[in-house]
Amino acid sequence: MNRLERVRQIVDSILRDVADPEDRRCGFVHLYGVSLTATLLARERGLDPDLAAVAGMLHDLVSYESGDPADHGPRSSRRARELLRDVDGFTVEEIDAICSAVAHHSDKAGEHGPFEELLKDADVLQHYLYNTRLAPQRGHEDRRARLLEALPALDTPE
Ligand SMILES: [Fe+2]
Repeated sequence: MNRLERVRQIVDSILRDVADPEDRRCGFVHLYGVSLTATLLARERGLDPDLAAVAGMLHDLVSYESGDPADHGPRSSRRARELLRDVDGFTVEEIDAICSAVAHHSDKAGEHGPFEELLKDADVLQHYLYNTRLAPQRGHEDRRARLLEALPALDTPE
């Protein structure tokens, strides 16, 4: 099994254990949605689409696993490192890149490296793509506006 599929298998089994059906649905929709969006952005930006897909799958994992969203970026990063160590095919550098992006993804106002910024953008775009008529989440407004300006074909009339 390839490494992305193995990561998805692990994430799927964690999400299946989420007790609340609506939280479980949100977990699948959001983690897969960010993973796919990150893949597309990575291709556009000359970054590794496979690593982007993995980062998307793991970025909010502890929020769903524990039901507690507090400090979930750094906590999901630590959890991601633990999980990725047991999956064949990732180098130390690749695990570092994924974990750094996951750790920083909640800092939407801050600016980090290209891979960290890609995950933040994928997170914001997934919320938009899920339902374009919902207001952006708090803290996502500026980034969402910048992304939609850069992707005019994705914008829809109000
Ligand atoms: Fe997210």
